[in-house]
Amino acid sequence: MSAPESGLTAAAKGNIELVETFRAEFDRSPSVLWSAPGRVNLIGEHVDYNGGRVLPFAIQHRCYVAAAGTSDGTVTIRSRQFPDETVRAAIADLKPGGSADPLGTRQPQGFGGWASYVFGVIWALGQVGVNVPPLDVIVDGRVPVGAGLSSSAALECAAVGAICEMAEADIDGPQRAAIAQWAENDFVGVPCGLMDQMASTCAHADHALLFDTYDQHSEQIPLAASVAGYEFLVIDTGAAHGLVDGEYARRRTACEDAARLLGVRFLREIADRGPDESDALLSGIGDTVLRRRASHVVSEIIRVDSAVDALKSGDWGRLGALMYASHRSLRDDFEVSSVQLDTAVEALLSAGALGARLTGAGFGGSVVALLEASRVESAAGAVTASFAAAGFVAPAACVAVASQGARREILDG
Ligand code: GLA
Repeated sequence: MSAPESGLTAAAKGNIELVETFRAEFDRSPSVLWSAPGRVNLIGEHVDYNGGRVLPFAIQHRCYVAAAGTSDGTVTIRSRQFPDETVRAAIADLKPGGSADPLGTRQPQGFGGWASYVFGVIWALGQVGVNVPPLDVIVDGRVPVGAGLSSSAALECAAVGAICEMAEADIDGPQRAAIAQWAENDFVGVPCGLMDQMASTCAHADHALLFDTYDQHSEQIPLAASVAGYEFLVIDTGAAHGLVDGEYARRRTACEDAARLLGVRFLREIADRGPDESDALLSGIGDTVLRRRASHVVSEIIRVDSAVDALKSGDWGRLGALMYASHRSLRDDFEVSSVQLDTAVEALLSAGALGARLTGAGFGGSVVALLEASRVESAAGAVTASFAAAGFVAPAACVAVASQGARREILDG
């Protein structure tokens, strides 16, 4: 099992390496360095585009963005993960739907067009009147890519922080998250909700972020699992996860169709009517698939509230039961699980987890489980054994540490 990227030492070492890479690539030091984390969602899945509440926490894996101004009129972006690629564009040429590489220097490989997340942020900042100067940028993405842990939100949110500082734009956390989401929706073309960017920007260490996507209210909920002898174990199934292939957008459209049928703007409004009335309304949806999609959303929104109560009262058994109920609903009604995710969840429960569920969009990616600390190693081993028996690629495991959202990093070295 991989150790968490531990504390200051590893992070500080990584920052020094990033500054050195910047100097080697661009012949001068960066003037700003920001980082932003990936996230694990504890519960509240596929509800952020339905006006629901979500309960993610930021994890210890972060993406780093270093930048300095340049006089050549363009933005040049490099990545420590893709050292052979240089992507360059003139700011005025950045348009949604356009190439991420308007000057045609070199198309980015892998990372799903990684540079377009940074270009999208520059474009979105321009739309809200921020005058972004020409820049040289280096990205160091240390959030596993394709694991459902929001590596893209981490990149966007670190980029927003760094570029706002370069542009001397004073923009608060929730607005920075919204700009990052706008970049992903309109520039990159993924119709995600706001959960990942809010977690990556606004989460506090040792807390989960309860974010209500209906009224944008957020509350920091203390996450004292390790104090109570529990840990959140994350299993990356290694099975590809991607949102651009249409399934995520199809789920979103189904929810919008169900809301329209029920005469509301968001399915959240059905959850607010209470269990009896919402059950009656849901059973009136004639189309079976739409009914099951809407049932997941409504029941999940109710589960988030119960999970917050469980966390506040230290009822870990109840939290675990809610996590597994969420997984079953995502598997059976929302149909976003996969055989690897289900295998991991069942292996974790057999190994004594109080609860386990897919986290993030699903269709591959990661599982989060709640376990007594003493069972973490053996449970991770049980998942590895069950994957080997099924002939799946070996999963990766780590204990998730609730970490701080986007921040300015100290530049030295
Ligand atoms: C992805 C999206 C989020 C959210 C989750 C599912 O992570 O980016 O906005 O919809 O899927 O809960």
